[in-house]
Amino acid sequence: MTLENVNSPIKLANGTTIPCVGYGTFRTDPAVTKEAVMAALQAGFRHIDTARVYENEAGVGEAIKAAGIPRDQLFVTSKLWNADRGYEQTKAALDASLQRLGLDYLDLYLIHWPANRKQFGDRAAEINAETWRAFEDLYKAGKLKAIGVSNFLPHHLDELLKTATIKPMVDQVEVHPGWPQREAVKGIQDRGILVEAWGPLGGQGATVLTNPVMAAIAAAHQKTTAQVSLRWLIQQGLVPLPKSVHEARIKENMQVFDFTLSAEEMAKIDALTDLGGQCAKPDEVDF
Ligand SMILES: NC(=O)c1ccc[n+]([C@@H]2O[C@H](COP(=O)([O-])OP(=O)(O)OC[C@H]3O[C@@H](n4cnc5c(N)ncnc54)[C@H](OP(=O)(O)O)[C@@H]3O)[C@@H](O)[C@H]2O)c1
Repeated sequence: MTLENVNSPIKLANGTTIPCVGYGTFRTDPAVTKEAVMAALQAGFRHIDTARVYENEAGVGEAIKAAGIPRDQLFVTSKLWNADRGYEQTKAALDASLQRLGLDYLDLYLIHWPANRKQFGDRAAEINAETWRAFEDLYKAGKLKAIGVSNFLPHHLDELLKTATIKPMVDQVEVHPGWPQREAVKGIQDRGILVEAWGPLGGQGATVLTNPVMAAIAAAHQKTTAQVSLRWLIQQGLVPLPKSVHEARIKENMQVFDFTLSAEEMAKIDALTDLGGQCAKPDEVDF
């Protein structure tokens, strides 16, 4: 299917669809969230990515309410924070997120990070399995239209799939120029799971957008480095989630469907290294 704009649908494994670019809200100050999300919705974004831990779900909800867009035209994702893992805790955490958002279902709910062996030793797999069991039950109850994970590497997925009865439909991982995560992305895609790219511009403080290779490719297409970065992700079959609180950038980040990177340009970007970003290692984090 040709992708024509940020809302072009991509089919998930359960038959539902997801708009091919989402609007990110990490580090969006709660005080400006309503205004920023309103700007994104007015610019045309319909896919909004938030999380419990961003502490801005209420602002996202206010913007959704104020925008008055029919619920079935929106795609809202939130994430279960690490402190809320476990079967009962997950159910309570979803209810609290729904309440803050003013919604009665989510289009997608993600386990934000896998419990890892570094923190939980032999209990890690069981914690993830119990959390996932709640996700499956909430999905069957209709409170979630799709379920997935975030920051799960292929080995975390394989562990989860030992007890899962429903396979995650999405895995949201960090991918940007300089941090292509080629093996992990291929491993996730090979398991029939859609990959979303967080930090698609490298996030705060990265040098993705000022890199000279990126700048030369951008100039050749009369585009910006941010647009090139997003295009590079889209051409790999990934769903990027660019965040900006500025209207002009929000609009810029949507204009990525009127040019194509050549195989040579893709390879040049593939080869970039050390451009900053979080470069998160899910097996090593201790939060
Ligand atoms: N699952 C996870 O663990 C996880 C982790 C991190 C992020 N995420 C999700 O992924 C989304 C994106 O990641 P991110 O927010 O870390 O980083 P990002 O989208 O890669 O980059 C955001 C930064 O780039 C700036 N920016 C945005 N558009 C720009 C443009 N066109 N030109 C120049 N600068 C631009 C933004 O500043 P302004 O806002 O000032 O414009 C902000 O500082 C998050 O918002 C969140 O929804 C998920």
